Amino acid sequence: MNDLAGKHILLGLTGGVACYKAAELCRAFVKEGATVQVVMTEAACQFITPVTMQALSGRPVYVSQWDAREPNNMPHINLTRGADAIVLAPCSADFIARLVQGRSDELLSLLCLARPMGSVPLLVAPAMNREMWAHPATQRNLAQLAADGATVLGVGSGFQACGETGDGRMLEPDQLLHDVIAQFQPRSLGGQRVLVTAGPTFEAIDPIRGITNHSSGKMGFAIARAAHEAGAEVTLVAGPVSLPTPRGVKRVDVQSARDMLAACTRLAEGADVFVATAAVADWRPATASEQKIKKDGSGQAPVIAFAENPDILATLAQGERAKSGDLFCVGFAAESHDLANHARAKRERKGIPLLVGNIGPLAFGQDDNALLLVDAHGERELPRAPKLDLARQLVREIAHRLPRNGSTS
Ligand code: CTP
Repeated sequence: MNDLAGKHILLGLTGGVACYKAAELCRAFVKEGATVQVVMTEAACQFITPVTMQALSGRPVYVSQWDAREPNNMPHINLTRGADAIVLAPCSADFIARLVQGRSDELLSLLCLARPMGSVPLLVAPAMNREMWAHPATQRNLAQLAADGATVLGVGSGFQACGETGDGRMLEPDQLLHDVIAQFQPRSLGGQRVLVTAGPTFEAIDPIRGITNHSSGKMGFAIARAAHEAGAEVTLVAGPVSLPTPRGVKRVDVQSARDMLAACTRLAEGADVFVATAAVADWRPATASEQKIKKDGSGQAPVIAFAENPDILATLAQGERAKSGDLFCVGFAAESHDLANHARAKRERKGIPLLVGNIGPLAFGQDDNALLLVDAHGERELPRAPKLDLARQLVREIAHRLPRNGSTS
């Protein structure tokens, strides 16, 4: 995906060992379609060369405010006016202090001060030793920087170049890439709390075996990511899937439909939106054997009786919070044929305002999908696209329909 297509990012490097990660970050920005202009402080040049950054960005690097390449000799103005964002990665403790003071005696701090604050967000990825990070001066400066309108992206924790272990590592390039992409998404769910179910459930036959299905969880994980990008606080209740947790999303892992129901019932108390994408097993073995069921030599297969699982979506949709309009429920329907009719009927049956239909065999495990949105007013198709694209569109559709936005559906 080209999530940064058309974006122009000014990537600023300051002095820190984490400069080695900035090379990969630059590459990731370019891969996502951005143009990248690198600006380095003198200290940054001690850790990585402008040659590397020029090669990766495809543009000459700026290191001096006296750069004669600019006809008007004002790189601090020229470089910031066309930028969609300034990303400082790594941003040292010293540079944070400089930003707080509004210092401007070298190009990078000068251009941060000169940036048009209304249109060029400043994203800061701190990187430093754990004691420097924990120092009250640093924490005070970070709070002030945020109050001055910068976005502080946080730090990682772990083994540090100095040999110590703790907080203060620069976030990894893929985490930073994610945060920068999120910065450009509309904040349509700001302040909302979203609960998402995803993946299959696993219904035990015995301690070794069970019944599950082919759901990969990709759509639900994409929705969780998109909702977080849109400013929501997101909790993802996931069946057994091997997908990484989207950044910033709280994840609760469950196995069976009954586990999923218990988790969702508890978590829905604090949610405004519930999106049920999980492919919940309709039936479970009526009793799970505590020991492995062995072949008894008779050649007869064991007979397994089934019990119907609770319907998680219908249960929450019939709950008090949904009925009083405090919980907006969205269901998914995986059908094999006659999608619109089945989706309409399922929306009615489950008693929910919005149902999202898709053709199961064309969706399971795929990276893209096509969706049919069905609500009280009719249908709308979201044509085939990558699941993250569709998830972002769906999140906007949900946001439009929330009661606070004045929708009647
Ligand atoms: N769902 C759920 N709990 C279940 C079954 C389904 O929460 N026990 C949710 C799914 O997450 C999805 C929606 O209900 O959002 C539709 O699920 P689906 O299995 O397609 O529909 P069913 O009601 O089971 O109908 P059918 O099997 O007849 O298609």
